[in-house]
Amino acid sequence: MPVYSISRDELDRALAAGNGGEPIRAQIQKWCAALEAGQIVYFPQTPVPIPEGDLKTLLTGEQTDSRLHKNIAYKPNRDELTGVDEKTSPPEAVRELHAIMRRYSASVEEFLTRFLAPYQHRWTLDYASYRPIEEHGRDLSVRKRNDLLHTDAFPTRPTKGWRILRFFHNIHPTRTRDWVTGEPFAKVVGQFAPGKIAVPQPDSGLARAGKQIAQAVGLDKAVPQWKRTPYDEFMMQLHNTMKEDAAFQAECVREEVRFAPGSSWMVYTETVPHAVLAGQYALEQTFLVDPAAMVTPESAPVAVLEKMAGAKLV
Ligand code: SIN
Ligand code: FE
Repeated sequence: MPVYSISRDELDRALAAGNGGEPIRAQIQKWCAALEAGQIVYFPQTPVPIPEGDLKTLLTGEQTDSRLHKNIAYKPNRDELTGVDEKTSPPEAVRELHAIMRRYSASVEEFLTRFLAPYQHRWTLDYASYRPIEEHGRDLSVRKRNDLLHTDAFPTRPTKGWRILRFFHNIHPTRTRDWVTGEPFAKVVGQFAPGKIAVPQPDSGLARAGKQIAQAVGLDKAVPQWKRTPYDEFMMQLHNTMKEDAAFQAECVREEVRFAPGSSWMVYTETVPHAVLAGQYALEQTFLVDPAAMVTPESAPVAVLEKMAGAKLV
């Protein structure tokens, strides 16, 4: 089963006891290890409830009828909201959405500071997103489609081996959010490399020097590849090749997962192949986690790929 479900009771008991006792520490470590092993940690009832008024705005507000934005993002480090069409949205509505996203981001961070205690803050808070658009039947280019099985990679923001942990919340009042997930990371990598993608290799001295110069003069902004470590380059190719491989999409092993209204889940999306087939209205907060902080560091994709390459890739 790709899903590891944690009831409200189990969670409350573990978190109320804090870092107090050995059994609790062991319990939280077990949850982190499940995540690292590629399971989706699922909370049938979200541990991060959203204030009633905020929820009402998110489900009925102006922002939901615009088809212009794919994704509304909140960037906590700059306290910035992007993806809202400023021309058609009243400033008051934008300000309200901004405040809602700020609150959401802070409350997920507060929860995960406790839940991810074994990682001892070795993570950074990345972007949050609001996903008001129906996922079924969206008209997007292949690489942007989220209904094709894929692992996540950021085209312009390489993580240099840090892991992509995403916390989701299905805020739709009555409908499930419907995903499919694929096989474990190492297995999927084996289906693509070597063959469809080259096994990752460390940069040559020349390539390293070239990237350093490009970064020094700012050219890496125009050519995102120049920002990427060999690890990031491989992860980007894996994302693209998986989505573009029609035979893989048609034939690969998959499992359906439906997330209930009002539920939350979290998953390392750079390793767990996933796709969203249907659903509307979700919130999501991304964290970048230091692979060295893992309870099982050998499960991090950078470790898996470096073992395969026989060399350092970041
Ligand atoms: C994705 O990360 O591919 C989309 C997941 C979702 O919006 O449910
Ligand atoms: Fe994804």
